[in-house]
Amino acid sequence: MIRIGVLVSGSGSNLQSIMDACERGGIDGQVAVVISNVPDAYALERARDRSIPTVVLSHNDYPDRSAFDRELAITLKEYRVDLVALAGFMRVLSDEFLGEFPGRIMNIHPALLPSFPGLGVRRKAIEHGVRFSGCTVHFVDAGVDTGPIIIQAVVPVYPDDTEEELRDRILALEHKIYPKAIQLFAQGRLIVTGRKVYVRGFDKDAAQCLVNPPLDI
Ligand code: GAR
Repeated sequence: MIRIGVLVSGSGSNLQSIMDACERGGIDGQVAVVISNVPDAYALERARDRSIPTVVLSHNDYPDRSAFDRELAITLKEYRVDLVALAGFMRVLSDEFLGEFPGRIMNIHPALLPSFPGLGVRRKAIEHGVRFSGCTVHFVDAGVDTGPIIIQAVVPVYPDDTEEELRDRILALEHKIYPKAIQLFAQGRLIVTGRKVYVRGFDKDAAQCLVNPPLDI
């Protein structure tokens, strides 16, 4: 059973999917602590509803990034976490922080990396006219959304999509792939070699393919 520290800044729907998966046995682990840098983040309510310990560390209370990150690392260690899961955590982490949890920090991003890293990515995907977008769970490295990719899910994008429509389409899959990525980690099935993440016990499926608009229209 792994102990997961979840970092949040907002609504916490991904946190909810992780807590739900832990509860129904979809993740061999438990959420040990939820830490928010935003004092009134709704994610905190979700954690309290499940009687999971919550900590608020407001970055405004710290003189600089490294002071904040130091406190964050200390708190996560107090709760003896095996994995740090960023779930809508809207801050970049320092190299010092990354060094405290090598190979043990994951993030979810609402686009198909390496396309559309950073912020405002659903709008950017629609404006670019891509036919597919999706979501990515990756290990965190020193770059912004650049770490080794664990799992991705693809959704169609339509030219008349609103940002909200695309957000909801992507979010529904985020809630499936994040718990899955964490379970693969908990099972010790993820092997990172350079940029690549190998999944133990996984057979290739060469038939998987998506076309948008479909070929038969
Ligand atoms: C999610 O869509 C997540 O992918 C995104 O923030 C949202 C958080 O929603 N993360 C990022 O953009 C990270 N750069 P949630 O609070 O409901 O889980």
